[in-house]
Amino acid sequence: MNTRILGTGKYHPDNIVTNEEISKRVDTSDEWIVQRTGIKERRVGSVKNDEMPSGMAARAAKIALEQAGVKPDEIDMILFSVTLPDYMFPNSASVLQHKLGIKNKCACLDINAACTGWVYGLTLANSLIKTGVYKKILLCGTEMASGFNNWDDRATCVLFGDGSGAVVLGADDSENGSQIIDSILTSDSSKRESLILPAGGAIEPVRQKTLDENRQWMSMDGQVVFKNAVKTMSSHCATLLKRNNMTVDDVDWFIPHQANLRIIETTGQLLKFPAEKTIVNVEKYANTSSASIPAALHEAVMDGRIKRGDTLLFAAFGAGLTSGATLLKF
Ligand code: ACO
Repeated sequence: MNTRILGTGKYHPDNIVTNEEISKRVDTSDEWIVQRTGIKERRVGSVKNDEMPSGMAARAAKIALEQAGVKPDEIDMILFSVTLPDYMFPNSASVLQHKLGIKNKCACLDINAACTGWVYGLTLANSLIKTGVYKKILLCGTEMASGFNNWDDRATCVLFGDGSGAVVLGADDSENGSQIIDSILTSDSSKRESLILPAGGAIEPVRQKTLDENRQWMSMDGQVVFKNAVKTMSSHCATLLKRNNMTVDDVDWFIPHQANLRIIETTGQLLKFPAEKTIVNVEKYANTSSASIPAALHEAVMDGRIKRGDTLLFAAFGAGLTSGATLLKF
C-alpha cells in the first residue's frame, strides 16, 4: 500500500500588505526587504473574516477534498500543522472538523514543529496509511503569523505572512507509482532559543509584565536560523537522493520552505539543484511557515508545472530548530 496525494488546496487572505506600507511604520524600505529576502508583499488575515487558522484551513481543505473527489466524511484523520493555533485547546484540527461538517468523529491532531510541521505531518500520515491504520488523511499547514509578528520590530515583521495549504492523502494499491519514497526529520534543540515565542505558555503566561517587555512576540537570531536552514535543508536533500540512488537530475521539482529567497537560492546552490526546477512564490506571500510548501504545491499543480508522475523534493526548517525533507512521486 502506497500513499498518494489525491488532491491539493490553498488559501491566502485577500488583504495585501506591501513593503511600502510596512516602511511607513518601521524604519525599513522595499529595497532592503527585496534585496535581503526577495519578499515584495504578504497577506494578512483577520479573525473577523474567519481567517484564523481553522477558517483558512477550511477553505484550503474544501478545495483539496473537491480535487481529490473525497467527501468530508470519508476522512479518517485530520492532521493540522500550526504554530499559533485558534486556541491553546481544543486543538485546531477539531475546530476544522466542525467547520468542514465532518460527522464521523475522525481523529484530530495538531502538530507544532513550526515551519517544518507540514513535512513532519507528511511522514506521520504516510506511516499511518502504509501500516493500514487509516485510509484517508487530511493534512493541513496553516498559519496566522500576523498573530505573533511584532509589527514594530523591523528585523522580523517584514518576513511573515498568513495562509494555508492542504492535501488529501489516500491509500493507493494501483500501479500508478505515486508514493512517498523517503523522508528525513531532525531537530537541533541546542539552537532552540534562536527562534522563540517566549510568552503565552506554561513557563511565562501572558501578564502585564510580559506586555511591558514585549515578550508576547516572536524573537529570532536571523543569522543562526539562516545558516542552519541552508545547511540542514541541503544536507537532508543530498542524503535522501544518495540513499535512494538518485541525483538532482531525477527530481522534476524542488519545493523548499518559502522563508527567504536567499535561503532558497543558497540551498539550491549547495545542492547543485537547477533554479528553473525550483518552485518559488515567496515574493507574493512571504514566509507563511508550515503553509508554504503545500500552498506552493497547489499553485504549481494548478498552473500545470507539476504533473502526475513527477518526482518532487520538499525541504523545510523552523523553530526547534526542526528540519525535514521528503522525496516523493506525485
Ligand atoms: N530593514 C532595514 N534594516 C534592517 C531590517 C529591515 N527590515 N532588519 C534588520 N535591519 C538592519 C539591522 O539592524 C542591521 O543593521 P546594523 O548593521 O546597523 O546593525 C543590518 O540590517 C543587517 O542585519 P542582519 O540581521 O545582519 O541582516 P541579514 O543580512 O542577516 O538579514 C534576515 C536579516 C533577512 C532576517 C536574515 O538573517 C534571514 O533571512 N534569516 C533567516 C530568517 C528566517 O528565515 N526566519 C524564519 C524561520 S522559519 C520559522 O520557523 C518561523
